[in-house]
Amino acid sequence: MPVDSATIDALNAQMGRELEAHLQYLSVSSWFDAEGLPELKRFFAAQAAEEHEHAMRFLEYVQDVGGPVVIPSLAAPKPTFESAEEAVGAALEWEKQVTEHIDRLMDLALARNDHATSTFLQWFVTEQVEEVATMEQMLQVTRRVGEGNLMLLEDYVARSVPAPE
Ligand code: FEO
Repeated sequence: MPVDSATIDALNAQMGRELEAHLQYLSVSSWFDAEGLPELKRFFAAQAAEEHEHAMRFLEYVQDVGGPVVIPSLAAPKPTFESAEEAVGAALEWEKQVTEHIDRLMDLALARNDHATSTFLQWFVTEQVEEVATMEQMLQVTRRVGEGNLMLLEDYVARSVPAPE
């Protein structure tokens, strides 16, 4: 069955959330840059690029199924953080929220027997498992090293966290 207008609206809304995630990660990356932590800057800049790619996947899918593409207004990202733990914790919370939204979108597609959209969304379901796991581990390590030893977190990111694809 064709993709209906309520699904198009929901896909456009998710495109907006992915763009907001892109901006939020740019903000986190810049905060780590200002803190003099180049590996964390690199990691979150790569994460920002990945979120932009996610948004483009939604945009192109909406184009392919006939649109219309409607880019929503975007919330300004949080500009600063009190600590590395707060910045990484915020990233984990965003990823959990994105997972929830992707799951609701999948529910919508399945309820409508919209096989094209559910197949499109499957990639995001898998991706979110990886993204949440990465941020959970990053938060765990951030807490373990403590704010006074963030060079150890730099080492961890350099050695253990692959740059997002
Ligand atoms: Fe595109 Fe990290 O969610």
